[in-house]
Amino acid sequence: MLIIASDHGGLELKEALKGYLHKRQVAFRDLGTNGSESVDYPDFGEKVAQAVSLGQAEGGILICGTGIGMSIVANKFPGVRAALVHDEFTARMAKEHNNANVLVLGGRVDASAQGVEMVAAWLDAEFSGGRHQRRLDKIAELEKTIICAGKI
Ligand code: RB5
Repeated sequence: MLIIASDHGGLELKEALKGYLHKRQVAFRDLGTNGSESVDYPDFGEKVAQAVSLGQAEGGILICGTGIGMSIVANKFPGVRAALVHDEFTARMAKEHNNANVLVLGGRVDASAQGVEMVAAWLDAEFSGGRHQRRLDKIAELEKTIICAGKI
């Protein structure tokens, strides 16, 4: 199951993507926002990233105005690999090379049709493994050690 959420800046694109997920028969939960009033993207990014981090969802889609705030929030969560993508190519690469489990889009950047193309590319792609797995393993190791090792 996927989880999708946005702030007000991503609401319109979120609704368009939900239509696509319905058509494609992808199971998903929408965790808001549901109205056009201004909300804070960390509140919605947290919900999706936490569910993915805890293994309660296979993946997530997050949308704010630019996608930047949501990607900053989501990547704070262990095991979350959130990718802010801009076209079909980066959406496909996000899965093939980075095994991104959260796709991030910008509602004020991407038209609905582009957003759908990017979600489709991400869902259709497969992680390539091999040397890319080695790199993800290094990221996972950094998550465990970066603070304790006094590197920062
Ligand atoms: C909200 O105005 C806007 O700052 C937010 O949607 C997002 O673009 C933040 O990164």
